[in-house]
Parts: sequence; C-alpha cells; structure tokens
Amino acid sequence: MTPERLPGHPHLAYRGDALHLEEVALDALAERFGTPLFVYSKAAMLQALAAYQRGFAGRDARVCYAMKANSSLAILQLFARAGCGFDIVSGGELQRALAAGADPTTIIFSGVGKTRAEMAAALQAGIGCFNVESEAELEVLSAVAQSLGLRAPVSLRVNPNVDAKTHPYISTGLKGNKFGIAHERALAAYRHAHALPGLRVVGIDCHIGSQITEAAPYLDALERVLDLVDAIEAAGITLEHLDFGGGLGIDYHGETPPAADALWAQLLERLDARGYGQRRLLVEPGRSLVGNAGVCLTEVLYLKPGEERSFCIVDAAMNDLPRPAMYQAYHGIVPLHGRPTLDAPLWEVVGPVCESGDWLGHDRALAVRAGDRLAVLSAGAYCMSMASNYNTRTRAAEVLVDGREAHLIRRRETLPELMRNEVLLP
Ligand code: LLP
Repeated sequence: MTPERLPGHPHLAYRGDALHLEEVALDALAERFGTPLFVYSKAAMLQALAAYQRGFAGRDARVCYAMKANSSLAILQLFARAGCGFDIVSGGELQRALAAGADPTTIIFSGVGKTRAEMAAALQAGIGCFNVESEAELEVLSAVAQSLGLRAPVSLRVNPNVDAKTHPYISTGLKGNKFGIAHERALAAYRHAHALPGLRVVGIDCHIGSQITEAAPYLDALERVLDLVDAIEAAGITLEHLDFGGGLGIDYHGETPPAADALWAQLLERLDARGYGQRRLLVEPGRSLVGNAGVCLTEVLYLKPGEERSFCIVDAAMNDLPRPAMYQAYHGIVPLHGRPTLDAPLWEVVGPVCESGDWLGHDRALAVRAGDRLAVLSAGAYCMSMASNYNTRTRAAEVLVDGREAHLIRRRETLPELMRNEVLLP
C-alpha cells in the first residue's frame, strides 16, 4: 500500500492504518517510551537545513541555528555535525551548545538582557559575535571585555521598523518592540561602538519576527538594513558580515511560507543588485529547521461529551505544548491509528492541567476512544524548549528517529529530579 503523507510533513505518513515517522511506527514508540512523547525525524531536520544550504550555494554564508526553538543536546549535535553555527540567547544556551560540540567561533549571542557573567563566559569561550541590542549594553560589554584583556566582536541588532505580519507576541521588528536599536539611532550607535576600546565591530543584524509566511517583510527589512550599511561604511566602519536573523514560518495549518532556498534567491538578487552579494552572510533560523520535524504523542485519557462542548482529555498538556495557550496557536492533531477524518464528532482536545487555557485544539474532528493515541503535529519547535513543570508534571521524553532506528535522546523527567533542589524547613 502506498503511504499516505500528511501535507507539510514529508516524513510523516500512514502506512496501512498506522502513522509512521520515517520508517518507525509511532504507536510502537508510545508503547515503548510512554506518553507524552516527543518524536523527531532526523531526515526532516537535515532536509530543512539543506534548503538553506542550497539557497546559499556559492556564497560565504553560515546558518546559525536559533537553538531556543529546540535546544535538546542531540539535536544541537546533529546540526553542529551538519555544519551549523548557533544563535544563543543565554549563558545556559552557550553551555548547551558547547556540550553538544559546537565550534565556539560559530556561535552568535543575541538577546536584550545579557548579564556581565554571561558576557564573560561567552568571551572566554571565544564566540564569534555578540548581537548587541542597546547602547547601554555596548558600554557594559566593552568594560567586561577590557577587564578580561579581550575585545568583543560585535554586531548591532537594528530594528528596521517593518511589520512581519505575524502574532504580536512574536513580532519583533516594529518600533514599539523591546528589541534592537532604532533605525534612526543606528549610525550613532555604530560610532559609539567603534570608539569603545573593548569592542571590535564586525557586523550588523536584524530579526523582524517569527512565523513569517511571506517574502515581502524580509525584502523590506533587507533594503532598510542595506541603507544603514551604506551609511555605516560611508562613516568609515567596515562590516564583515550581514545577519538577517530567522523567522521563516512553517505550515501549521495550510500556511504557505516561501521555501528557504526560494526566499534566499530573492534576497540574494537584491543583495547582488546593491553590491553586497559577496559579503559574509548569516541567518538565524529556528522554527523552520525543526518545527515540522517533530510530533508529540499523547494518549486519550477520558472522553467527556457535553451539551455545548465535548472534551477529549489527553495526557499531554499546556506544560508540554504551551503554544496554543500562549499564542492561540494551531497544531494539527491526528490519530496514530486510522486516518484523519472530517466525518467524526468534534472535540475540544484538552490536557489535565487545572486551567481553562489548557487546550491543544478546538473543534477537532476525531474518531477516538479512551486509550487511543494521537499525534500533535508541528511540535518540533518551541514545545519541549518551552515546556514547564506546572502542576508538578514531569517533562516528556524525546526520541530521534533515523530511518528504522529510534534513539532516546532525553529520558522522561522523574519526580525526585523535579524536587531535588527543594529544601524542607527545619
Ligand atoms: N533570532 C532571534 C534574535 C530571535 O529572537 C529568534 C526567535 C530567532 C532568531 C529564531 O526565530 P525563528 O526562526 O524560530 O522564527 N515561542 C514563539 C517564538 C518565539 C521566537 C523568539 N525569537 C513561538 O512558539 O511561536
């Protein structure tokens, strides 16, 4: 029987009536490792990366995986081995990237609130660049570097003031956001950075938001950033690299974002036209590398039909999959056995957490019974990395599938681990 693939998920398919990721039946993994369980496809991640690599063929470019999307060590290791650098946002992410074997010179450090200790750790590790987000941060970074007898390589994150047309919580390139240095202040900030003794200006960066599904905001941001580059270089400050951030969206529910290589063909055409096509280029994709490579398996605990709404209560919850509660995000939900059907009762798919916001999907047509298992789709990005222990729920286990093989890459958290740092009163 030919496998029936799920749109947007090239490595996920029903064979017979069983949902497989690559060559592995997901029900067998749920049986073996329990639920909730995150399962990722290695091929899907490498294929997503390959789209960027194709887009940059023949250019001096580096993909710095924005590891906040999914920072599990084995996934970082996979990307490090495939030639990625990393975009980090904390000292914790620095340690993770190094533990996974990242080359420190390929690490860039973003974020509006780097502490002195985080700066010092990153300087001592020898990272490639600090993406600085304010003039106050420039001063502190220069002082920290000087105290270590080092010079910090810096890029300024400029805010191009373009609308990424995405959810307000994940839009970052507009004036009212806390991110970046305002376009109008950028040249002065570059002069300031250039004059500070502990800094070495190496680049410019921008990041306009996340889950962007059109090319237009990128093209707008590119022109705005290149206008600044013209002005900065005219002032005698040379930029070795241009970093266009991350943000490319994925298909959660029929969205049609451009493919990474198609997007970059358009951006490179503009870069070439403006004479910057041979400059060193960096990108910081997160979601588009891992989002549709992962699913979260969950078991139906109870069905609770009602007059107004019927609830399908599953064992995964907002602590495992925070995106619906936080951003009203849509994740597909499909059965591990049988086929998705529109011809079934509608359910509110909810978790066991004591919050009305603990829902995973509204009005989902599912032919389900208690004990059945479901897959929550597009769960590779911003799920495990945002998971919490709310309601004293241990965090799920994670498995990476590679062809017919399945590797446990994170054991399920245990209750003693959860309570280990707590101290009872005398
Ligand atoms: N670079 C910077 C400076 C960022 O702030 C981000 C994401 C990225 C790169 C990667 O963006 P991506 O390619 O993944 O869109 N938790 C939210 C997304 C928050 C994104 C934060 N910054 C969600 O689940 O939708």
